[in-house]
Amino acid sequence: MKTTIAQVPKSLGQKVTIGAWLANKRSSGKIAFLQLRDGTGFIQGVVVKSDVSEETFQLAKNISQESSMYVTGTIVEDSRSPFGYEMQVDNIELIHESVDYPITPKEHGTEFLMDHRHLWLRSKRQHAVMKIRNEIIRATYEFFNDNGYVKIDPPILTGSSAEGTTELFHTKYFDEDAYLSQSGQLYMEAAAMAFGKVFSFGPTFRAEKSKTRRHLIEFWMIEPEMAFVEHDESLEIQENYVSHIVQSVLKNCKLELDTLNRDTSKLEKIKAPFPRITYEDAITLLKENGFTDIEWGDDFGAPHETAIAENFDMPVFITNWPKDIKAFYMKPDPNNEDVVLCADLIAPEGYGEIIGGSQRIDDLDLMKQRYEEHGLNGPAYKWYLELSQYGSVPHSGFGLGLERTVAWISGVEHVRETIPFPRLLNRLYP
Ligand code: 4AD
Ligand code: MG
Repeated sequence: MKTTIAQVPKSLGQKVTIGAWLANKRSSGKIAFLQLRDGTGFIQGVVVKSDVSEETFQLAKNISQESSMYVTGTIVEDSRSPFGYEMQVDNIELIHESVDYPITPKEHGTEFLMDHRHLWLRSKRQHAVMKIRNEIIRATYEFFNDNGYVKIDPPILTGSSAEGTTELFHTKYFDEDAYLSQSGQLYMEAAAMAFGKVFSFGPTFRAEKSKTRRHLIEFWMIEPEMAFVEHDESLEIQENYVSHIVQSVLKNCKLELDTLNRDTSKLEKIKAPFPRITYEDAITLLKENGFTDIEWGDDFGAPHETAIAENFDMPVFITNWPKDIKAFYMKPDPNNEDVVLCADLIAPEGYGEIIGGSQRIDDLDLMKQRYEEHGLNGPAYKWYLELSQYGSVPHSGFGLGLERTVAWISGVEHVRETIPFPRLLNRLYP
């Protein structure tokens, strides 16, 4: 019977065939241990010289890394492997011999691995990270579907910008100028007025000349937007959503977290509610932590975010930021017009901002004023103004950066390992 590695627990004691690649092997005169992978998982195949034909044993001893084959054998329990099973191999049918696979079990430098990303994805560690990414995406759809949200897909080619004009990717749209989307938000606001609660999940682009462990040029964002929802209610949705994805990964990706040596005790604590501090409190906290020259009105960089996060073992919301350092669409705090009703959610353990969100301006005159202040006078922004003109309502939304979230939950240092084919400064290959 043909099966997959993920399904072998159902075949305990039975003889099965698996299509697999050789990840690694070791052998002696009498026995060969094959580390096999098939995309669904990893399993050890044990080939005992006295139990197989001479031809099969020679093949097992000499087979090269990443060669493909059909392996047939009996599934037995193996208490020493984290997976819990191994195969006692009877027969190997070679499909294709791989010659001189470039990524050997020895250590390789990052640039070399990045140049071979199309092959590096096969490794156990990369496999674990991508499976966690997949689980976060699955749990995202589950959370929003279970809570009455409609998935809406905003366009990727746009004429407008949501997050300022400095980081836009420019292209031609026949005779017009167009940009790759930095955020679907403005379109999601239109969608919230049509469907109430909506979310998007798609690629976004920032032509940012940042070369840090948190920045990608192309990254994926989940952007929920909710009509009749105020800022505080939006924070509750955010903390429930983030708790849900962390708990789902803990439940469904035990092997992957184990492969990555992730300290899961830190993740087990991640349950709503999350602490909230104002921007002003954050400034005080930073001053107390040695950032003596930070002033009210300054934006935070990675070292500031990390220093704040170190005071909490949960993600922390920093709320009520100065209006001048935030986007044009954010609603002013009725108690203090200098700050806006927004929050950045900072992940623990130095992973930085994973969510940016806010309540949106819903007053037509104020929106017109912001248009003037920000020079949004082109025809591309006309439609967005009409949202505050026809039945405007209080509404809020946020964007969660998938790759930073994957990095945090997986415990990997750099976002380049959290997306199949990272687009980085100076890297468009492979
Ligand atoms: O804070 P940002 O810029 O917010 C927005 O784009 C809003 N329009 C979202 C909304 O309210 N609908 O980006 C949101 C998140 C950040 O918190 C971060 O996690 C991620 O997107 N992000 C990046 N991730 C990787 N590389 C980059 N260059 C990123 N820029 C933002
Ligand atoms: Mg932000």
